[in-house]
Amino acid sequence: MDIKLIQFESHGDERGSLVSLEDHKNIPFTIKRAYYIFDTKEQVKRGFHAHKQLKQLAIVLKGSCRFLLDNGKEKIELLLDNPAQGLFIESFVWREMYDFSEDCVLLVLADSFYDESDYVRNYDEFLEMVNHDS
Ligand code: TYD
Repeated sequence: MDIKLIQFESHGDERGSLVSLEDHKNIPFTIKRAYYIFDTKEQVKRGFHAHKQLKQLAIVLKGSCRFLLDNGKEKIELLLDNPAQGLFIESFVWREMYDFSEDCVLLVLADSFYDESDYVRNYDEFLEMVNHDS
């Protein structure tokens, strides 16, 4: 599976670091929505869904967490722990997030407003959808 990890330019100096995110410059879509996950309790796993249309970019602003990405053929696990890196998640990719550090703040940028009808929350249904043509 082609994992798109975007490395952002970090403007660092003796005061610290700054990363800027801009539509169609370092973010590969127009940002319609941003949400963030924090205060995640120990042992919690989140996600467990795919999207039919939505494209998203995940950035761990603080701390760390693991992502499992699954396109129905291949699964990849990766650790996000760098606020200067963004994980691009295309549509029809099943994702699970876990191993959140206590201080983890996970920012997600999305190309559409929240729409429950865009979610695929049943894994078997997801597999049927992605393997339909193969
Ligand atoms: P949920 O889909 O369970 O989060 P995750 O997939 O990360 O585990 O979302 C939790 C709740 O938040 C659920 O009631 C839907 C709501 N929600 C919004 O209202 N707007 C949003 O943009 C998102 C992502 C979720």
